[in-house]
Amino acid sequence: MQDKVRAVVLAAGRSSRFRGHGLKLLANVCGRPMVLYPLGALAQLGIAASVVVGYMAEQVIATVRGWCKTDIEFIIQDEQLGTGHAVACTRATWDKPLILVLNGDMPLITSDLIAQFIEMHEHSHAQVSIVTAFVSDPTGYGRIVESKSGIRIVEERDCSDEERRIQRINAGIYLFSKDFLSEYLDKLADNNAAHELYLTDLVGIASERGCIVNTLSVPYDAVRGVNTLAELAAVEKIKRTDLVRLWTDAGVRFDDPTLARLDVDVEIGSGTFIGASVTLLGNTKIGSCCRILNGSIIENVTIGSGTVVQPFTIVRNSSIGNNCAIGPFANIHSASIVGDGGTVGNFVEVKKSVLHAHVKAKHLAYLGNAEIGTESNIGAGTIVCNYDGVNKHRTIIGEQVFIGSNNTLIAPLSIGNGAFTAGGSVITKDVPAGSLAIGRAQQIIKEGYAEELRKRATAQGPKLTA
Ligand code: UD1
Ligand code: MG
Repeated sequence: MQDKVRAVVLAAGRSSRFRGHGLKLLANVCGRPMVLYPLGALAQLGIAASVVVGYMAEQVIATVRGWCKTDIEFIIQDEQLGTGHAVACTRATWDKPLILVLNGDMPLITSDLIAQFIEMHEHSHAQVSIVTAFVSDPTGYGRIVESKSGIRIVEERDCSDEERRIQRINAGIYLFSKDFLSEYLDKLADNNAAHELYLTDLVGIASERGCIVNTLSVPYDAVRGVNTLAELAAVEKIKRTDLVRLWTDAGVRFDDPTLARLDVDVEIGSGTFIGASVTLLGNTKIGSCCRILNGSIIENVTIGSGTVVQPFTIVRNSSIGNNCAIGPFANIHSASIVGDGGTVGNFVEVKKSVLHAHVKAKHLAYLGNAEIGTESNIGAGTIVCNYDGVNKHRTIIGEQVFIGSNNTLIAPLSIGNGAFTAGGSVITKDVPAGSLAIGRAQQIIKEGYAEELRKRATAQGPKLTA
């Protein structure tokens, strides 16, 4: 296949129907820019691709280069004069006997479909092959018009009323013999409603000349094009449903499959339960037998096995070990690490910090720029003061340390192994290993003084009424 086929991916258009949401080809579909889906399918088959870029070319090139390891040639189409003109710009790259053209705006395309299409084309000895689909609402697509005189594609804007009712559409996937393309691409004219050079006119031209034109009919969902925001939402929903199905088959249980949101690079181990409205994004890898519960958002995170993430927790760009208890309402981010058996409980924020194995911070704490040793306990309400208004400072807490409740730890600070800090302390100086640090005002008791206070208050005159 690689020896015979050169692919051309069309990605130069302006996305005018995207209504101010930028370039559609860079819009994310399940965490991956749309244009990378056809390119990924081609890479899987080892087919070399030329990508036509024009509008926002630099961004498209940077995105593609950042993701695709395979060799890709970029061709600039300075003016967007239509899909036929876009293909004509790639002429110098036609180094194989078959030229496969794909629209860049079809993120549901698969390598299996492309392989089947190429195989069909070769068996049929056709000069031109196209992929078609039946759709209940064909609005926006080119219609496949067949008659005794042959087959042609008529664009929506050029359709007669009768043609507009045709439900068989052109998917935007074409195979041409290089010889046919070399001879006829120059013959396209822009005498149509859009004044563009339509690639699709080549089908009628081939048919008129008596060339063999073959069609492969496929399910519409596999080739849905994206021109509008509504179409983007529709393809993302289909892709997400496919991903949920894939992981369900691999042993993951989704509380409500219609409410889970997963990106394409997410991996989940078997025996894991995903609650309703959980969002798993980016390069997230979750181990086996975990429970990730309702409303949690996990992005670019590695989670070991057996870990429970309680509802409404946010974890980003961090790593969580095995058998941890996280949340509810925890916020862990910025390259933090929570070791095996760790607990990060409700209303605890962990930023740029390492919590070694079995550290517990169960309630209401802020741990920033900190390293906390194995089996240490952070009391409720403890705050690490890591920022002096100019610089961030580190707090190093040893192993088996007990930080009492409501401590204020003023960084830079070091607390040795096995140390103990009293509840309510403001800790400003390093604490040696094994010692107790108390940093709070002494309590004084004045017996019987409460009555005295009441008398004084009464003597001060009338109270404000509520
Ligand atoms: C196109 C087809 C239509 C088909 C539909 C399938 C044509 C004339 N029409 O219509 O028959 O049913 O796709 O989704 O081809 N592009 C360029 N340069 C240009 C113009 C477009 O590179 O000058 C690129 C776009 O970025 C896009 C692709 O070509 O990736 C298709 O263009 P688009 O404007 O989306 O065509 P449709 O109206 O969808
Ligand atoms: Mg389109």
